[in-house]
Amino acid sequence: MTYDRSYWEELWARTLREHPDKVAQHPPNAHLVAEVARLNPGRALDAGCGHGAETRWLVAQGWEVTAVDFSASALAHAMTTAEALGPEIAERITWVEGDLAVWTPPPAHFDLVVCLYVHVAGSVGEMVRRMASGVAPGGALLMVGHCPVDPATGAPTAASGQVQVSVESAVAALDPGEWELVVAGERPRAVAGTGVDAVILGRRRG
Ligand SMILES: C[S@@+](CC[C@H](N)C(=O)[O-])C[C@H]1O[C@@H](n2cnc3c(N)ncnc32)[C@H](O)[C@@H]1O
Repeated sequence: MTYDRSYWEELWARTLREHPDKVAQHPPNAHLVAEVARLNPGRALDAGCGHGAETRWLVAQGWEVTAVDFSASALAHAMTTAEALGPEIAERITWVEGDLAVWTPPPAHFDLVVCLYVHVAGSVGEMVRRMASGVAPGGALLMVGHCPVDPATGAPTAASGQVQVSVESAVAALDPGEWELVVAGERPRAVAGTGVDAVILGRRRG
């Protein structure tokens, strides 16, 4: 299976056609809410924003958000949903159709970079470093990935065969002289009920 643009575009188009209400009601990610609620709002990047639930939550917390995804259908849905909340929400979001395999944030521009469950086509370390390059000194990087193996049982999870960020890859990619790791561990998935997520929250030293 290749998790490329066509895969995601077809998945989003079908899901939005068959379950639009379910997608619109998707709650923001529990790791994001737990880790970011206490940060001072500023400029945020939501890399791989999908349905836009995290983008909308960030804006409601006072952040200005740049939201990137390579699925035109997901972006159209996310934009329409945000616009329905009114201009005070919609005007604080910049939507970007871009491929995160190559899309590079402006250097040291964001106070927060969020990248949740994005499949990585190339090197995970390179992707972590590229996302991290967009974080301003004093800012935060939150990356979350599904673990391919359940540590409790050793059994493959639904994410088996997918390449996503792991604790080891993120720790190896982030220079400790430049990054303080606030969280780097595996946590149960709050929403799906099964499996484990790798959660990395780094703070760029100021
Ligand atoms: C599993 S969904 C996660 C969506 C959202 N971040 C969340 O936590 O619910 C992965 C999202 O990343 C997007 N995506 C995957 N690979 C990408 C890439 N190379 N460039 C841009 N977007 C990508 C997909 O279109 C999809 O919206």
